[in-house]
Amino acid sequence: MLRRFWYAACFSVDVTTEPVARTVLGTKLVLWRAAPNRSVSAALDLCAHRDAPLSKGWIANCHLVCAYHGWEWDAAGRTKRIPQFPDSPHPTKSGLTMVAAQERYGMVWVCLDDDPIADIPPVPEYGAPGWRVVPEYEYPFACTAMHLLENNFDPGHVAFVHRGTFGNPDRPELTDTEVTREPYGIKTSGEVPVDARPGESGATVRTTVSKVYAPFFGHIHITYPDGLRHVMVKAITPVDDTHCSLAQIVLRTDAEADRPAADILAFDVAVENEDRDMLESLPVPFPLAPHLNAHARADRNSLAIRRMWTDLITARWLPAY
Ligand code: FES
Ligand SMILES: [Fe+2]
Repeated sequence: MLRRFWYAACFSVDVTTEPVARTVLGTKLVLWRAAPNRSVSAALDLCAHRDAPLSKGWIANCHLVCAYHGWEWDAAGRTKRIPQFPDSPHPTKSGLTMVAAQERYGMVWVCLDDDPIADIPPVPEYGAPGWRVVPEYEYPFACTAMHLLENNFDPGHVAFVHRGTFGNPDRPELTDTEVTREPYGIKTSGEVPVDARPGESGATVRTTVSKVYAPFFGHIHITYPDGLRHVMVKAITPVDDTHCSLAQIVLRTDAEADRPAADILAFDVAVENEDRDMLESLPVPFPLAPHLNAHARADRNSLAIRRMWTDLITARWLPAY
């Protein structure tokens, strides 16, 4: 089921004519551009000849070259050259096993299945007038994608895990969030008191409308009392059973002169480090069944998200977007 969704493998700027390796759902991939500014190609990171990782190879004459015996393929994975006997026919099965890839929001998205359930999730603010983009990072976590996604929609942890950045353990009280199942996943709205916002000090409140596009994509829209709007795009990719990766960008309605991108990035890295320290200490696998944990009133978001995942993996519900 999870193979039938699009995931952000990396940022577009990180794929050049040097092949790069990424893992999605335990599947090792190689990503490359056959020439600068060409579209991204993605394939299984495994040479059909003697199983060498193609990510150890290089690009020559617009061909991906295997580092072991020098076989060559074009951007579509067709075998173009076997250098030891260049005039002999190419064996069947010598071509690459290609994986669907496309670029959006400055990221490279891949889908391991040829029958995706949904499209890449929408980000209406990207490219819209009045919004600037702050590209952030690809951040690795040694925890499951479920742990990271749930954490991002858990208002109760902010006062404690983030006491070094924007949380305050003396102000842990919350108001109820309003949570609904939507065709795309979960929508939750609420207010979180915070002690700071990126690059500033001073207590304020975040009014948030947060959306989960099933299974692991977060769109968090924050409005501050002075009217500033701040969107966090959290493209969470399951790397394997115990690792995930977060590709994050921020969109804001202010200007670079109001709040430099470098301040926002430094703040978010500090926040990510706080989450990572906690998340990497939690046991795996993720406790999906409700009876495996105690839940309180602040866990409405988490419970709705866990129910959504259960419905998804048992095929009782499929998202549409
Ligand atoms: S293993 Fe790739 S060319 Fe031999
Ligand atoms: Fe957090």
